[in-house]
Amino acid sequence: MFYIKWIPCCDPLIFVFFAVRPMNPILVLFLVLQVFGQPPGNVFQLGFLHCDDVEGSSAYVSYRTSASAASIAIDRLKRENRLVGYDFNFTILYDQCDENVAAGMAVQLFANYNVDVLIGPTTNIPAVPVFSLAYFYNRPVITWGLTSSAALDDVTRYPTAGILSIGSRSIAVAFREVMLEYGWDQFVFAYSLEGNDEKCETLRDDFQDMIAYYQDLVMSYSVQITDHSEAGMLAILKDASTRGRIIVPCFHEGNSRGLHRRWMLVAARNGFVSEEYVYIFPSLRSKGYVVPQPGGTVRYPWEELGKGPQPSDQEALIGFQRSIFIVDMQGQGGVGSNYTQFEEEVIQRMRQSPYNCTDACSGPTYQQAATYAGQLHDAVYLYGLAMEKMLQEDPKQYRNGTEFPKYLVGTFQG
Ligand SMILES: *[C@@H]1O[C@H](CO)[C@@H](O)[C@H](O)[C@H]1NC(C)=O
Ligand SMILES: *[C@@H]1O[C@H](CO)[C@@H](O)[C@H](O)[C@H]1NC(C)=O
Ligand SMILES: *[C@@H]1O[C@H](CO)[C@@H](O)[C@H](O)[C@H]1NC(C)=O
Ligand SMILES: *[C@@H]1O[C@H](CO)[C@@H](O)[C@H](O)[C@H]1NC(C)=O
Repeated sequence: MFYIKWIPCCDPLIFVFFAVRPMNPILVLFLVLQVFGQPPGNVFQLGFLHCDDVEGSSAYVSYRTSASAASIAIDRLKRENRLVGYDFNFTILYDQCDENVAAGMAVQLFANYNVDVLIGPTTNIPAVPVFSLAYFYNRPVITWGLTSSAALDDVTRYPTAGILSIGSRSIAVAFREVMLEYGWDQFVFAYSLEGNDEKCETLRDDFQDMIAYYQDLVMSYSVQITDHSEAGMLAILKDASTRGRIIVPCFHEGNSRGLHRRWMLVAARNGFVSEEYVYIFPSLRSKGYVVPQPGGTVRYPWEELGKGPQPSDQEALIGFQRSIFIVDMQGQGGVGSNYTQFEEEVIQRMRQSPYNCTDACSGPTYQQAATYAGQLHDAVYLYGLAMEKMLQEDPKQYRNGTEFPKYLVGTFQG
């Protein structure tokens, strides 16, 4: 019933799930990642900035459930006989997702620890000073996780940075491809700012930039959803439907708190689900039709959160049959086909050296890998690939930040 489609032009880590008239349903089983992006004693010094147990970001990027993904990446480089004769030394500091702390820690890593590369930070606001400092010290920086702001994705301003997280700009470009694929040129944007984490605001701005740049789509109306009750959503639907039939709702959650379900349920119950309507959900931190739940299980988005089967599930399902998700798969791209195995390894390796996180990592909330742990793996692995290339072509430049991103541009299959 649902299909994954690969749109070759776009950022290859974007997945598009179609429930609507799939024209060419291809199941993509491999991924291609493209990113912009002679040490003393043959040891690369890697510096990390992590958030340890910070409210809000924990499930996505927590140190205790992600850091060891870096070791898994080093093992993979060694297994593939890359950078033979070289070793990697980790220095881990904590920015605690705070911009001021992040700036101070970044200076320590660059100036005191003299790292060759900084991996992190993992959230938007701390990334801004850290990117500037990386430019000042001219060292490579690779960020991952929740750094989705388009402002970071600016090569002239931050020429030493590689960004592994999917930005909302990529989502906007993928969205355009979907629209063109179907020959649609107008849509209505309805966004919620609840949660106040900049996601839908950034997405709205990136949509507007994309439209201004390509000039082949029209956002015929943009409306903020302020009331998240069924009545509030119905009012927005009534309003939006007078302006267009392709409706693009944005909720801050990664499809995890049931707002998508409520939206589709209200639409289905009130006559806003028919051949005429299409709902496109552009969504970061989401896996589309699979919603991860606490404890490692999954549910469908039309199922009521935590309540077991409900008769209204079937009504919501009818709504979702007119939907398309454009998602980042929560950054699980490159770590290989068996993500479960990877996740188990992350948790298990946190107990080992150099993390030695035994007691602190024993709580029940630390038994499942952080959502974006896969991106940390990719960050370290891609750094290794870039160094392999750089040492062959221009070994003196290995820690030249402005030279680095062009070596990070590469392709690998996970
Ligand atoms: C590894 O990094 C630490 C600083 O975090 C440093 O004290 C140590 O000398 C480094 N080890 C090697 C082998 O480079
Ligand atoms: C993935 O790994 C887990 C744990 O090792 C195993 O139980 C599962 O069968 C594997 N799945 C696939 C598709 O290989
Ligand atoms: C972690 O444990 C190993 C082995 O027990 C030990 O050699 C190492 O020094 C410990 N590292 C830290 C940072 O405590
Ligand atoms: C670093 O790389 C830039 C751009 O490739 C280059 O212009 C600059 O000269 C390099 N710096 C050093 C110290 O070699």
